[in-house]
Amino acid sequence: MSAVALVVAAGRGERLGSSGPKAFVMCGGRSMLEWSIDALKAVPEIVHIVVATPPGIEAPAGTTGVFGGDERSHSVRAALHHTLAGDPVLVHDAARPLVTPEIIRAVLAGLDGEADAAIAAARVADTIKQDDGGDAAPTVARTLDRAGLWAIQTPQVFRREVLERALAQPHEVVAAATDDASLVETMGGTVRLVECPRENFKVTTPEDLRLADLLLRRR
Ligand code: C5P
Repeated sequence: MSAVALVVAAGRGERLGSSGPKAFVMCGGRSMLEWSIDALKAVPEIVHIVVATPPGIEAPAGTTGVFGGDERSHSVRAALHHTLAGDPVLVHDAARPLVTPEIIRAVLAGLDGEADAAIAAARVADTIKQDDGGDAAPTVARTLDRAGLWAIQTPQVFRREVLERALAQPHEVVAAATDDASLVETMGGTVRLVECPRENFKVTTPEDLRLADLLLRRR
């Protein structure tokens, strides 16, 4: 297998309240991006790593940098266009610094013969309720059946041709997607769930950053 990894690191991270781009914020003694790159480099099946960065910021040594776009999907597309070969294609958010080589290997292995994509996911532990759409004083409209619910993470692994077609869908479809796998779902593709630890969470808020910092320092 000659897989290629795309790491999207071009977001501004406004919810984190950091002075610079989120992926370059220090966490556990190194930038969040460096933790992900090290995990990817430890997986021999991955032959090339492309990082989508904000304009003017260099990608880490041993990776190829490409400037990302205004939306996450633009950054994924820019990074994909930079890789001429490599199949399957793995996409990872730099905002998940707790990813491990074991998680990456498990998701790569999840792309079996019948699947178009395989994605890291954790079973939902909380009871999930949906509100009635009111903003001022939200009220519960219904309780979802937790048994079949998963919280979706990255890495997400795709057959190259499938990801290319997924990202080539009309602008409004691509812009509305909150992850790449959902673009495969809209085409009727088969997406395998690979159960991964909840510890592979996304750093969004200052509280997430403090927790990730503690966990990474213990490694
Ligand atoms: O903002 P959010 O946390 O959903 O971003 C997920 C990932 O996508 C982050 O790693 C971020 O750097 C990346 N991203 C990007 N280009 C954008 C927006 C987000 O590479 N325009």
